[in-house]
Amino acid sequence: MVNNIAIEKAKTSKIHEVDFDNLSFGSVYTDHMLVCDYKNGEWEAPKIVPYQPISLDPSSKIFHYGQSIFEGMKAYKDEDGKVWLFRPLENFKRLNKSAERLAIPQLPESHFMDGLHALIQLESDWIPTNAGSSLYIRPFVFASGNGFHASPANEYKFIIACAPSGSYFSGKVKVLIEETYSRAANGGVGYAKAGGNYAGQFYPTQLAAAKGYQQVIWTDDNTHEFIEEAGAMNVFVRINDTLMTAPTNDRILDGITRKSILDIAKDEGIKTEVRKISVHELVEAAKNGSLKEMFGAGTAAVVSPISGFGYHGEDYTLPELTDSYASMLKKRITDIQYNRAEDKFGWRYPVQ
Ligand code: PLP
Ligand code: COI
Repeated sequence: MVNNIAIEKAKTSKIHEVDFDNLSFGSVYTDHMLVCDYKNGEWEAPKIVPYQPISLDPSSKIFHYGQSIFEGMKAYKDEDGKVWLFRPLENFKRLNKSAERLAIPQLPESHFMDGLHALIQLESDWIPTNAGSSLYIRPFVFASGNGFHASPANEYKFIIACAPSGSYFSGKVKVLIEETYSRAANGGVGYAKAGGNYAGQFYPTQLAAAKGYQQVIWTDDNTHEFIEEAGAMNVFVRINDTLMTAPTNDRILDGITRKSILDIAKDEGIKTEVRKISVHELVEAAKNGSLKEMFGAGTAAVVSPISGFGYHGEDYTLPELTDSYASMLKKRITDIQYNRAEDKFGWRYPVQ
């Protein structure tokens, strides 16, 4: 028992089968997972068990009505072997915000935080230490309850699984500004981290990939005139020396990296603006040379520079900067995450 979490240990470990020098993103999993069931109107005690497949009835509502939400977090190991999380309570709060929107019962904070803590402690040998690597943590909740009736399930599973991971993108990202499809709509579920938000992006992203772009920049569903966010990250734009990002609304995920980057940028004395950014403004800035950089920000992607964007059949390439905001901000945020710098904002959370 750790933090009152029962642990059933795996009989053997797979850790020696893993090539920690060549980790891709999220494709090998640690020895254990946290599992917690919602039954008879309450969340039962979470427990840690060996990582294993789950058996579900074909009528489980997750398969039919997509009641499924998730989070993305990372555990970092510093040079002394100490383990850290980054703003984990924010992920917990956002999980419950997503849960509310998908009519999933609210998870108690202690189930999430104590379960997470115990799991990361147990799996700490799995946290990679190579530059740019970390233990990616995937908490998720889905409707395990049965029935073809289109209504919320009466049973759910909350699971946390972990994957030692390298970078999400291998280099700079070329993006396509979307003019036809929408990721989210007013009054919809865009602000929730709902599985279906990602499923709906795959087809337009495949179309973009066929044209040579790795990510789509979503625009507002009403006019397609304002940029919102990318598939797995919020988007920042630097015009001259001002750093800007779109305001969050019910179509945009309120990214934890996004708000941390805004705080760090302000702390650096960078002028920041949280406001609507039109595609017209972006294209004009690219043409007149005032568009200095664009980058995505997210847990998986960290700070990912954008090499250029496509719009209306034209490609716009961004300049190569030696002193980019992206590289400075990435260094500052990862120095906090990996305990290489003072944490003046109080974001680091020790796992001891
Ligand atoms: N936007 C979307 C659609 C995402 O999937 C993510 C990733 O979690 C983000 C933004 C960035 O959010 P965060 O910084 O909290 O990881
Ligand atoms: C994350 O950044 O953690 C995410 O959830 C993005 C994911 C779709 C890979």
